[in-house]
Amino acid sequence: MKKESRQKLAIIGAGTIGGALARALASEWPVTATRRNLAKARALEGLGVRLTGDNREAAAESDIILLAVKPLQVVPVLQEIAPFTDGKTVISFAAAISLDIMNRAAPGSRFIRAMTNTAVEIRKGYTVYACSSTVNEADRRLAEEILGSVGEVQAVDESHLDVLTAMAGSGPAYLYTVVESLIYGALRMGLPRDLALRSAAHTLIGASELLLASGKHPAELRDSVVTPGGVTIEGLYELEEGRVRTAFMKAVCAASTQARALAKDARIQAEKAITPFFASGQEEIRESALDKIEEPLYDGSNFPKGEASN
Ligand SMILES: NC(=O)c1ccc[n+]([C@@H]2O[C@H](COP(=O)([O-])OP(=O)(O)OC[C@H]3O[C@@H](n4cnc5c(N)ncnc54)[C@H](OP(=O)(O)O)[C@@H]3O)[C@@H](O)[C@H]2O)c1
Repeated sequence: MKKESRQKLAIIGAGTIGGALARALASEWPVTATRRNLAKARALEGLGVRLTGDNREAAAESDIILLAVKPLQVVPVLQEIAPFTDGKTVISFAAAISLDIMNRAAPGSRFIRAMTNTAVEIRKGYTVYACSSTVNEADRRLAEEILGSVGEVQAVDESHLDVLTAMAGSGPAYLYTVVESLIYGALRMGLPRDLALRSAAHTLIGASELLLASGKHPAELRDSVVTPGGVTIEGLYELEEGRVRTAFMKAVCAASTQARALAKDARIQAEKAITPFFASGQEEIRESALDKIEEPLYDGSNFPKGEASN
């Protein structure tokens, strides 16, 4: 389909993730992007993105709104653009801000809450999303088409989104740490820099693609690389001594706990912005709102501090 005949997208908040989405989507969709400091987004114009500092104008002139501001900006921005998003689909990429909060901030819009990662820039993102009950099948299909044009897309239950923020959203940071460590190991052994980087990155790609294509458990694939008395087992033995698996498990748990804590804070802030009573400090309303917030399943306190458990 020709770009001009497709639905118009507004990306509100062209920062790291909004900018990556704009760069990836602009070749296939008509995109308008906003941020307050437009000078920092000028490069997008060269890719065919229309820039404006006016969120309302961008929302008014678009069919679908992609919201990529920081979590605490979501409610104020929704309240600002609400008169222009009635009857439109809004896809929010913000961590922690629930569909319920967004529905209450702009009741006329149909909300999709998504989590993605920076690999959308090269159309290799992994985006998960949950829909509010007002989203119809046509909205959902269109959202999948947009999100699917920048990588893999999968519908999930909203209750999984905080943990998926720690996996899909934060995951690249953990994997870059792995790649960096492999590179430094190779540098220590004298491999040239570019060879160290390419071998680490391509090994990660190949291992991930084999994992998905084979349908096998990673432990089975790992075992297939190990030969008795061989090279790989020496490396794995060192990793076990370094408690690497425990470290990664703890990283995902700690990040998920943080996502849930932010969700709780965000809900309190949103309640203040949405509910006038809240701002006036009526404690019973505050407590009843807080009661509705789920406690984290894991508080980060009960991991063994002594010997490795893996
Ligand atoms: N970074 C990631 O890898 C990642 C992954 C998945 C999801 N997310 C989610 O994406 C959201 C953005 O994260 P980010 O890392 O991309 O943050 P970021 O780089 O700070 O981008 C946010 C952008 O929003 C703009 N902004 C702030 N207030 C605005 C307003 N009132 N109207 C229009 N634009 C406004 C800011 O630019 P100005 O200050 O110039 O306005 C900034 O460029 C967050 O909610 C985060 O949870 C991020």
